[in-house]
Amino acid sequence: MTQEKTKGAAALWSGRFNEPVTELVKHYTASVTFDQRLAEFDIEGSLAHARMLHAVDILGGEDLASIENGLAQIRDEIRSGKFTWSVDLEDVHFNIERRLTALVGDAGKRLHTARSRNDQVATDVRLYLRSATDEITALIKNAQRALLDLADQHTETILPGYTHMQVAQPVSYAHHLMAYFEMLARDAQRLGDCRKRVNRLPLGAAALAGTTFPIDRMMVAKALGFDGVCENSIDAVSDRDFAIEFCAAGALIMTHLSRFCEEIIIWMNPRFAFVDLADRFCTGSSIMPQKKNPDVPELIRGKTGRVNGSLVALLTLMKGQPLAYNKDNQEDKEPLFDTVDTLSASLRVFGDLLGGIKVNVEAMRNAALEGYATATDLADYLVKKGVPFREAHEAVAQTVKFAEGRGCDLAALTLPELQQFSALIEDDVFAALTLEGGLKARSHIGGTAPARVKKAISKARKSLV
Ligand code: ARG
Repeated sequence: MTQEKTKGAAALWSGRFNEPVTELVKHYTASVTFDQRLAEFDIEGSLAHARMLHAVDILGGEDLASIENGLAQIRDEIRSGKFTWSVDLEDVHFNIERRLTALVGDAGKRLHTARSRNDQVATDVRLYLRSATDEITALIKNAQRALLDLADQHTETILPGYTHMQVAQPVSYAHHLMAYFEMLARDAQRLGDCRKRVNRLPLGAAALAGTTFPIDRMMVAKALGFDGVCENSIDAVSDRDFAIEFCAAGALIMTHLSRFCEEIIIWMNPRFAFVDLADRFCTGSSIMPQKKNPDVPELIRGKTGRVNGSLVALLTLMKGQPLAYNKDNQEDKEPLFDTVDTLSASLRVFGDLLGGIKVNVEAMRNAALEGYATATDLADYLVKKGVPFREAHEAVAQTVKFAEGRGCDLAALTLPELQQFSALIEDDVFAALTLEGGLKARSHIGGTAPARVKKAISKARKSLV
């Protein structure tokens, strides 16, 4: 940040003031340190605005050409790091406008006709968020592809499915992975839906009431790739619900990644040993030589907190504001930027991490054998023989108790032992009691049968192209 004094800086709005702001207030109210991230979008918006002003005869051809050349030069200066940002000029908009005027004179001063920083900043933020939304959506799809690649290898791998963190029923590990695929698919849809509301043009609302000039808002909307215009000028400059929606969608994305990571962390523990994570995603301890810590999944889980925090920050920012624009809204940027940055980094690292998961098929299978995971299958078996489900449930509960006493699995009991609990049990029961049998039988849409999961994976792959 250049701290140099910009001569006449205050003149952009201070004609009616008797004294300049204090140094403290200047720094407190400036946003240029962080909103310079909007610069390219600000220039894009200004170009579209200037061209429209020319098309409706508010701005002459020469002025337009000067503005176009000046803004092109400013864009180059910014890209090459040569642009001098000044805190004296408060924000990205004033910095660019002042530089433009220095480069092209009066034409630069005419650019702000029929516009206010209020509709300007709302436009910049929407343009920024639209492009960020597209980036995040692409990253979600990459992570989904990585999930499919892992799932492909594990349709036949048996994992004890849990409820209440207790062994419930055997599932295919690929099926478990595909649950996350579905979550991410909804996340991408949510972003797509949010994007429709982001992609509306506020410009033309001016300060809040619109402008007395005969502007053509549709022309600007089209030039900037917006689907339409914000229909109410007061709403256009005041609400940030589109940013809140994005952050809410972002919080859900992080929540989904975090749940996956939590499982990896638990499963890496030697008590489980279901998975190992490649060393490139782990670190050691400075004091305990034996340690291999799952830092990357822990950080994804941890960063979920800051994204949730940003969502709450934006909601709180909005809730007390009377219409229309208030300076409070300047505070929308940092939580939004941080959310985009955190999502982008987390999704990238998550996609990589999926390629570093080594599955211990044997350990998963053994765990599934331990918790009477096929008890429901035995109950279903009895129901198919005509026993009402509640009675079957009770008979199986007794069977489990018996097997527990023997210290063995249901499938390890003999036929006469099983028949103590129901005379209807026959030799075919053992097919139902194996893990593989339990999986295979759940072959309906959404079920965990390997053949069904394979179909789900290929359908999912097609949905990504
Ligand atoms: N830096 C301001 C923001 O981010 C730009 C708009 C300022 N408008 C105003 N009337 N003070 O919201």
